[in-house]
Amino acid sequence: MKSSTWPVALLLSTLYCGDPLADPEVQRQRSQIPQEHQPGFDRFIENNCHACHGLKGDGNGPLNSSGRFDIPDFRNPASYRHGATVSEIRNSIEFGVEGGRTGMQAYQNIPPEHLNTIAEYIHYLQAP
Ligand code: HEC
Repeated sequence: MKSSTWPVALLLSTLYCGDPLADPEVQRQRSQIPQEHQPGFDRFIENNCHACHGLKGDGNGPLNSSGRFDIPDFRNPASYRHGATVSEIRNSIEFGVEGGRTGMQAYQNIPPEHLNTIAEYIHYLQAP
């Protein structure tokens, strides 16, 4: 690496450590989403949903690398077990999944308007 690129590399790594949205892979995924759903995607990342649900919502996040959790594919409406409409999705996020096989906890720390944008983003994944 040329010495003149070091400051840039340092800046990028600092940004990356402080902000998950600055991860280049996250940015690449974000750029493929219509603008209206990008805020929902941002909240999805900020709340670390992608750790289990994956950047694409396919259920293959790093926390599920062992395949231990049985996580639905958000892109396939038939794979949802707790309802695939916007309001049902919102419910799953706010109250968690009853009898959940794993760590789908209730996210009552997320403000209502953010719950809506996340639910709309997940719903959009069914028919992008
Ligand atoms: C620790 C891993 C983990 C994290 C983090 C996580 N989830 Fe989940 N989620 C799951 C699992 C596992 C299920 C399936 C549970 C079941 O059906 O028993 C699930 C189910 C869901 C469902 C219901 C899907 C259906 O089958 O109807 C929604 C919606 C959802 N998650 C959204 C989110 C959102 C939004 C976030 C971030 C705020 C999040 N999850 C964070 C593991 C996780």
